[in-house]
Amino acid sequence: MERIASKMSLVEILKERLRAGCAACGIGEEELEKVGVTQAADLRFGDYQSNAAMVLAKAVKQNPRSLAEAVAEVTEVSDLAEVEIAGPGFLNFRIRTEAFAGCLGDLLEDGRLGVERVRTPHRIVIDFSAPNVAKPMHVGHLRSTFIGDALARIGRFLGHEVITDNHIGDWGTQFGMVIWAWKRELDRSALEDDSLNELLRLYRTANGRCAEDESVKEECRQELVALQQGDENNLAIWKECVGLSREGLQLIYDHLEVSFDHWLGESSYNKRLPGVVEDLIETGLARESDGAVCVFSDNSADPGKDPFKIQKEGRWEDKPMIVRKSDGGFNYATTDIATVDYRVEELQADCAWYVVDHRQGDHFKQLFAVAARRGREIQLEHISFGTILGKDGKPLKTRAGDLPLLSDLLDDAIQAARESSEGRSRVEDEGEREALAELIGISAVKFMELSHHRGSDYIFDLEKMVSMEGDTAPYLQYSYVRCRSIFGKLGEEVALDGEGLELSDEKEIHLARMLTRFGETVPVVLDGFRPNLLASYLLELARAYHSFFQSCPILKSEGAVRKTRLVLCELTARVLRRGLDLLGIAVPERM
Ligand code: ARG
Repeated sequence: MERIASKMSLVEILKERLRAGCAACGIGEEELEKVGVTQAADLRFGDYQSNAAMVLAKAVKQNPRSLAEAVAEVTEVSDLAEVEIAGPGFLNFRIRTEAFAGCLGDLLEDGRLGVERVRTPHRIVIDFSAPNVAKPMHVGHLRSTFIGDALARIGRFLGHEVITDNHIGDWGTQFGMVIWAWKRELDRSALEDDSLNELLRLYRTANGRCAEDESVKEECRQELVALQQGDENNLAIWKECVGLSREGLQLIYDHLEVSFDHWLGESSYNKRLPGVVEDLIETGLARESDGAVCVFSDNSADPGKDPFKIQKEGRWEDKPMIVRKSDGGFNYATTDIATVDYRVEELQADCAWYVVDHRQGDHFKQLFAVAARRGREIQLEHISFGTILGKDGKPLKTRAGDLPLLSDLLDDAIQAARESSEGRSRVEDEGEREALAELIGISAVKFMELSHHRGSDYIFDLEKMVSMEGDTAPYLQYSYVRCRSIFGKLGEEVALDGEGLELSDEKEIHLARMLTRFGETVPVVLDGFRPNLLASYLLELARAYHSFFQSCPILKSEGAVRKTRLVLCELTARVLRRGLDLLGIAVPERM
């Protein structure tokens, strides 16, 4: 049964008690806000620590060390932890073994495994994945897809109202080219077999011809203009392209187990665009410049921080945001401004998170500034990410020099998983083995992504990803399978509860400590949007499990020891399963 709220995490309880202790030492209400408790960086000094005495000493005109002593004296934590004062006035807390055992009992009864819901839930639109129709869905979209999906899962679990939106590029200049090639080169049967590939081929053909021949370029432009003016034939082709693309993309998402509440592509906002530009002109944000309509700086910010300024040869120049091109067409920026309106007015969102490549940073800075200047009440975040590199340390490319297609990468990963399990897997059934290779291959790519800080570049190394020995998805999945297999070997049903649990071995205690930290880890992921914190936590938990497993026999033990060890296995399995699920990764029951 899922409880409404989990019991408070150790860190929260300590903070509450410490605040009471500080209050008893004469610290005022306002100052108490500054009292914090964190996980200790080094377990030799305890489990948690606080620098409260150092932060508050000034306010009460005491020296930090004697304040720490006074606070330690009156803070009531003896049921939970021992307190020590260190250095200039740090308060270190070492959690009592019995307290950890008590936490295990609580966790067993808590479907949320210690993760509390947020106090103020937000309505958050997460804009992620967003590939472009007829253009390849490439590795950049892979990062966006996995990060966005993980944040959506975590946000929801924490109690936010999350709306996922795939803002696909279904109205760009590429359609001029696709329509041009469609009319001349379309291979119907190829389109039926693999629509994404055929559309991509059309796009590439036209793109190649444009580069060679100015007149083709002009013809493509004409096709685009005709489309934008509502030419029936072109609209019909466009509609078919978008429909087919969506079907093809859906297959990929099904494979990845990623889903969206909406697919409000760029074209959904077409009707709003003229009004948006008029409004920008009327409110004085935008004006004409060389035939185009642009938003300029309002000169309110320091030019170094102004997204509408750029430094050239030591001087600041305007870098306007174009919202209507000189040919009358609207663009990516106009659409994004209209999208913000829609998200505020129709979706009633109070936050929108854009999970998009770091190279679009300047665009989002301008977009967010425009939204603020128009008084849109929504908190906007650009959640950017770096580049995936090949083994040569350069951006990942195919041999032909193109950006690798997402579908090819996934196929390669599944193949690598197949090879790595060969001769090792305990699963005999052919069909189950194949399903497992698929699960592991895809999980491996997801986990490789999510275990890196999103801002950093990383090397796409298939062998490493599918290895069972590294910081990988298969390692965690295997850890899960191992926890579960104990129960298979028991040969009897055991009822696990929190009565009479006893921790004695260091490895047991450490595993219990790690389990209690799940509830402290998940909420922190949303500070700075770092799924990698959860990924590292899960790896650390699995390592704690393996060393426990190696030194603490389970089936051969008896009584309270045996029961406690089984509880540790059970909880480790639950936390691994839930934690991986929050990253969008499923666990197999056998491997
Ligand atoms: N389609 C864009 C691209 O592939 C990403 C769109 C991101 N979302 C947005 N609202 N601009 O680069």
